[in-house]
Amino acid sequence: MGTISLEKAGKRYGGTEIIRDLDLDISDGEFVVIVGPSGCGKSTLLRMIAGLEEITSGSLLIDARDVTKAPPVERQLAMVFQSYALYPHMTVRQNMGFGLKLAQFSSDVIKVKIDQVADTLKLTHLLDRYPRQLSGGQRQRVAIGRAIVRQPVAFLFDEPLSNLDAALRVDMRLEIAKLHRTLGATMIYVTHDQVEAMTLADRIVVLKEGRVMQHGSPHELYESPANLFVAQFIGSPKMNVLACAPSGDGKLDLSGQGALSLTFSGVPTQLGARPEHLTLVTPDNGNCRGTVEAAEYLGGSTSVFVRNDALGLINVSAPADSAIRIGETVGIAINSARVSLFDAQGAAIARFA
Ligand SMILES: Nc1ncnc2c1ncn2[C@@H]1O[C@H](COP(=O)(O)OP(=O)(O)OP(=O)(O)O)[C@@H](O)[C@H]1O
Ligand SMILES: [Mg+2]
Repeated sequence: MGTISLEKAGKRYGGTEIIRDLDLDISDGEFVVIVGPSGCGKSTLLRMIAGLEEITSGSLLIDARDVTKAPPVERQLAMVFQSYALYPHMTVRQNMGFGLKLAQFSSDVIKVKIDQVADTLKLTHLLDRYPRQLSGGQRQRVAIGRAIVRQPVAFLFDEPLSNLDAALRVDMRLEIAKLHRTLGATMIYVTHDQVEAMTLADRIVVLKEGRVMQHGSPHELYESPANLFVAQFIGSPKMNVLACAPSGDGKLDLSGQGALSLTFSGVPTQLGARPEHLTLVTPDNGNCRGTVEAAEYLGGSTSVFVRNDALGLINVSAPADSAIRIGETVGIAINSARVSLFDAQGAAIARFA
């Protein structure tokens, strides 16, 4: 089992509140990814769960047992850090077995467990090496192996792949997904990487200043963000936000630059449109127009930045082979079935395409 519940959990350093009244229920075997801007409290939250940081208010339950005040060893969680945190004077085998030795397993049992995990993680040929004799990716695999041998009730990962190069990150991302399928263990994973969050998560939790802004499946967060913050945080490149207002005829006016036909409830003041839901058209067509300020060829597509004096810089994802000239006037067609609407407070407004 590996259910984890935070109830009104909080963390203060002196007068500063880092985590505020946080409620989160994680089910057994769930893969939860925590994202949010730098300094929003992601590492602090993981460390509170691990027992490395005191919880100053509220409570933490693991498998329905209150462990708010329990020392780390009683929580049976394993944490994997960005920095690997391997012991430099120990071989891979000694690093992996250290926790088991402390827990007083016999050396025979320790050997069997390490051999099994080393086989899964393709570390067998490295068992006698020291960390300095390993590549970054190999070190990270050892750190993960060290966590697995202990058979924890849950794994906590704090940006485990951010020190690796792009190709290795992709490999390790697939390894972690496979590991989650094989072990079926609860995993809580902090990352800045959009692709890791979208591909690994059963559920993504978006934090801002120590508060949960929204949690849900990657699809839910991408398609139905609850507020402007989540809308702009999830998705790369970022969602465009255009000032708008209801016009008398039931349409949505885009700062006098054009209009969009769709029905909605409430009073939208901002329209969110992802770059992939915009299309470049001739200047007299589309929902608004502007001047091409820059174009970035990305191989698979081209990001075109169109300036409209009232609406700002709008990012349009165009086909890679588009013939685009800087300075030309273009029209932008907005796919009204895919836009998000927000009120003056930034809360999402229901819309009907
Ligand atoms: N020991 C401490 N004493 C006081 N403030 C702290 C302490 N540790 C962390 N903080 C503060 O708590 C806030 C959250 O830090 P935390 O490391 O959890 O952020 P994070 O979301 O993991 O950021 P990053 O994405 O940069 O890793 C920061 O403002 C940080 O300065
Ligand atoms: Mg951090």
